[in-house]
Amino acid sequence: MSALLAMQPLVGAAWAPDHILRIGNATLAADCTERQSVTINGTSPGPTLRAQEGDNSVWIRVFNDMEAENTTLHWHGISQYGSPFADGTPATSQWPIAPGNYFDYEFKLAAGSAGTYMYHTHVGFSVVTAYGAFIVEDSDAPPYDYDDERVVVLGDFYYKSDYNLSAGLLAAPFKWTNDPQALTVNGNAYGECDSEVKACQSGCHTEVVSVEPDRTYRIRVIGATALSFLYMALEDHPSFELIEVDGDYVNTHKASFLEVASGQRYSFLLRTKSIDELRALGKTRFWANLESRWRTTRSYGAWILEYNTTKLPGDGADPYSTLPHLNKTIPLPDEAPFWVMNEVTPLDATQAPPDDSEVSRTIFVDGTQLNSGPSDAQKTFWQTHGYMYSEEMPATPYLIQAYQGGLTIDYDAAIANEGYDNTTHSLPVRAGEVVDIVFLNVASASGTLEAHPWHIHGKHPYVMAYGLGEFSEEAYAAARANMTAPIKRDTVMVCSRVNAVYAGPEGMAYSNTTIPQGQVAGWTVFRLRADVPGAFMLHCHIQPHFTMGMGTVLLIGMEELPPLPEGFADQYMTYNATPQDVPTSFFALAGGRVIRRTS
Ligand code: C2O
Ligand code: CU
Repeated sequence: MSALLAMQPLVGAAWAPDHILRIGNATLAADCTERQSVTINGTSPGPTLRAQEGDNSVWIRVFNDMEAENTTLHWHGISQYGSPFADGTPATSQWPIAPGNYFDYEFKLAAGSAGTYMYHTHVGFSVVTAYGAFIVEDSDAPPYDYDDERVVVLGDFYYKSDYNLSAGLLAAPFKWTNDPQALTVNGNAYGECDSEVKACQSGCHTEVVSVEPDRTYRIRVIGATALSFLYMALEDHPSFELIEVDGDYVNTHKASFLEVASGQRYSFLLRTKSIDELRALGKTRFWANLESRWRTTRSYGAWILEYNTTKLPGDGADPYSTLPHLNKTIPLPDEAPFWVMNEVTPLDATQAPPDDSEVSRTIFVDGTQLNSGPSDAQKTFWQTHGYMYSEEMPATPYLIQAYQGGLTIDYDAAIANEGYDNTTHSLPVRAGEVVDIVFLNVASASGTLEAHPWHIHGKHPYVMAYGLGEFSEEAYAAARANMTAPIKRDTVMVCSRVNAVYAGPEGMAYSNTTIPQGQVAGWTVFRLRADVPGAFMLHCHIQPHFTMGMGTVLLIGMEELPPLPEGFADQYMTYNATPQDVPTSFFALAGGRVIRRTS
């Protein structure tokens, strides 16, 4: 840090970023098998960042230390009031950070935003390892009492490179990523590497989270997986209390297991056992079991809750060597849509969605899978409104276009087309408008459906209702009546009629039923007061689906953008590339787009 500061113009000792993050390449071996990966400050996860809610802004300088890949860093779940240029999305909120360059992200953490977030890269498949926890601390005492907290970041580990994973998804014929080779917890996983086949390292292990007896812990769980939707339960700790969903406190809600999709976060309170209880059980280590759902086969992983006590001996089991028993230790249910999400209510009783009378219109986001060409050279992709999102389009990022004064919004065209403007390939919304955004789960050509965690950037909307089957005003009203009180969140499951996912050997995926192409088999509704001007992504947080096009962009109040901070335009607006030099791929950049710094 001191070498870095020395390079800065001296404008007072206080002028330094709150955090410096360096995105680079490194060899990881989460489950002992080596993989070239993108890391943040050399590790995966990167450092846990902490900042306090309130008026102070946080300034994070991000360096791209990679030789041949562009990058950006996104602050997942954090509202970007007044700082849409800090949202960290290529083609939408900024030029990507070219190799050897850096970018300054500065944003405020609004009062009331205390909670659990994450940061991750937003270019190509690097997100599979380039992520970290971001904790927004309460400015006062948190509304729930706890003695301490622990952070549990869930991830997927693949042996294929980021480039191969992405390239396969976009190839003809299409090559699926398959399920990950390991589920990681805080970057760790148990594994048995075969050095005949792969380069190996030793020392990988199941993550151990240690606690003291007789205490209350806040366990913050972060879904940083690229693909896996996980169920989690704790051995001999049959229930816990949910207190936070995606950065908002909720009234305590008892649950026996946790459901975490990619992009979602939860906090729960865990009351640890007393010494007497531990003695009665005869052990001090307990499995936390992880199993994936909504796929044709299940992935398994774990972490270990270890009591830090010398007062009684452990149960003799070596936690690092018993993984094969894992998936039998704690029974977890089969897939079921919506979990406890209809019953969880906001802690702040005054927190309520905008009234129906304020809703100006309904915007539809119709995610569906399509295939092209003959089967031996078939491409597979995901679309909304017939358009496959690509992080390379438009050639100039939306927000830069808007600051240049070159983005013309045709609200009428969008309103006439369920909210989608076919010219800009976006969902334009006027500043201050209240809209219902309906995610539709539409059957593919082969009659299949999947469950998708849709994520919205910019601001947390209210989740108004979840449904299965066709969407209609009647279905919406009935589902709302079934919801105790809407909560805010930024990543929401859009499920489907239970019998329509891919056929496979396990769980509900086994039913092998299809639904006619184009039929809507499930939906979820967000209600958004669009008072945060900026260009914000809306996408499925399953990275393979996103790579295959499952995303779109909300353009909120493009006429009322906040001014750029003084001096920021030099870094933000300009780049040293002629249009012909625009790389064909952000994640495989070879020269081309370069951000020129003046300092
Ligand atoms: Cu965590 Cu655009 O996503
Ligand atoms: Cu998806």
